[in-house]
Amino acid sequence: MRGLEGKNIVLGVCGGIAAYKVADLASKLTQGGATVYVLMTRAAQEFITPLTFRSLTGQPVTTDMFDAQSPLAVQHVALAGVADAVVVAPATANTLARLATGMADEPVSLTVLATTAPVLLAPAMDGGMWEDPTTKGNLARLRERGFTVVGPAHGRLASGKEGWGRMEEPVAILDTLRYVLGRDGDLASKKIVVTAGGTQEPLDPVRHLTNPSSGKMGFAVAEAARDRGAQAVLVYAPTHLTPPVGVKAVPVRTAQEMQEAVDLSLSGAHALVMAAAVADFRPVKPETQKVKKEYTQGILLELERTPDILKAAQGDFIRVGFAAESQELLKNATDKLRAKSLHLIAANDITATDSGFATDANRCTLLDREGVVEELPLLPKLEVAHRILDRVVGYLTRPGI
Ligand code: C5P
Repeated sequence: MRGLEGKNIVLGVCGGIAAYKVADLASKLTQGGATVYVLMTRAAQEFITPLTFRSLTGQPVTTDMFDAQSPLAVQHVALAGVADAVVVAPATANTLARLATGMADEPVSLTVLATTAPVLLAPAMDGGMWEDPTTKGNLARLRERGFTVVGPAHGRLASGKEGWGRMEEPVAILDTLRYVLGRDGDLASKKIVVTAGGTQEPLDPVRHLTNPSSGKMGFAVAEAARDRGAQAVLVYAPTHLTPPVGVKAVPVRTAQEMQEAVDLSLSGAHALVMAAAVADFRPVKPETQKVKKEYTQGILLELERTPDILKAAQGDFIRVGFAAESQELLKNATDKLRAKSLHLIAANDITATDSGFATDANRCTLLDREGVVEELPLLPKLEVAHRILDRVVGYLTRPGI
């Protein structure tokens, strides 16, 4: 996975029941291409064994800095030096207190104190401990030091009570880590506006015209932009997806609302990527009350064109569109590229069964305004998103776009 590949992640595990979930995090990080070095406090080993992490990461696990086999025994700040990021999960109340006061008598706090890499904390503890002003104060001090905090979440706690104190899910920790790692990426300080999903055009209060867009492609572009350091704004029509962490999410419903949100978001933007499937037509006069089938045998709908958001959004930024076509793919995409005055268009053959609307993969051809045609193989949507952003970066770094 771009962003994690080749990165050294130091994962400090502390003594809380959520430690078992950190095994999943270690596994996901390793599968994403990171080298994961696990450090464990003594209390962590009461909940989960070093062998679990050793097996999942393929790396030695440090439990004791005086252990002659540990890299920390040779040079006690060794891992602090190689880390691209340090993640502490679960970050218990005890460990937060120790980190806040600069203790260094076990591997996790020692490494956090010694490192200059970004530190991500995923607190987990009993609700009462979380609410205690001491914990709040410790966390405030750690935030002041530039540490990023993810969670805790609300829900069932080990005590059986409901409250704040559950460790965030591994996917949310991973997402936040990718955001932290990407801060100096090739889109750092760039604002990228992305649209996603299929707009809904109301017929009456309970019915609408829409299309089967899942929103996955646009969400992937926003996620990839975030992972490369961009300030990503995601304007999205209704979908089942959760907006990625670290992305400014703007929910909308209709084409009209999407246009208004895009126009507002475009101030100071460097690129607009329109992955939304915008309805081309909308009912001229939506009914204010639910249409009752008992009163009518049929309806003749009068439709009008929706605004063409992409065509109207002209300015000093890179414009990327998508073309979903069932015939004459390249010709139709080229016509759209010109008609909407785009820099780049991603053309999809919607008759292909393995790519397109609701799938996780996409096979598309990128056509640019200079006439270059790049046929991409079937790729995960996140990778397609990166290929598109590679081209956006190309335009942004080219003088006189
Ligand atoms: O013209 P067509 O709908 O095929 O063009 C597709 C591209 O234009 C997509 O990038 C889509 O998001 C954008 N579009 C738009 N406003 C519309 C229709 C499409 O911005 N009303």
